[in-house]
Amino acid sequence: MPNILFVCLGNICRSPAAEAYFRHHVQERGLDHVFCIDSAGTGGWHAGEPADARMRSAAQKRGVDIQSQARQIASSDANADLIVVMDKANHKDVTDLPWVEPSRVRCLLEFHPETSRTDVPDPYYDGAEAFDLVLDLVDTATCALLDYLEERELV
Ligand code: 4NP
Repeated sequence: MPNILFVCLGNICRSPAAEAYFRHHVQERGLDHVFCIDSAGTGGWHAGEPADARMRSAAQKRGVDIQSQARQIASSDANADLIVVMDKANHKDVTDLPWVEPSRVRCLLEFHPETSRTDVPDPYYDGAEAFDLVLDLVDTATCALLDYLEERELV
């Protein structure tokens, strides 16, 4: 069963949204039992907390439930087949971990078919538009990530 781990800094905004949207696309395609899907943060400051209320509410308006509880990435995540990070800083922090196989780490927006952005911007200190931008990027990119996995028969 492919094990996909989404990672950002705090695990309360971007990676919980990516986890929830990837799950949403997986469910829409009837692939619920195919994947093991999770998210984590490179930092542990928010461990145990639900996702940021602004992120949850923005996603809820689009019919997507974010239910994750924040946690920090740990060596128990070494079984992840693919670690999908939100930005270049996450990429460095994750590939610096001694137990991470660098070829398994990808930036989410590599899969986005249209944007010239490389990073999903951190919305934490911004307004409502920043949360909507994250959801736009994450929706399209997680759908394309699932296309990629299906096309390569990794599902
Ligand atoms: P995230 O956003 O990495 O998308 O979860 C952040 C959440 C919290 C903080 C920074 C970014 N923080 O500094 O507490």
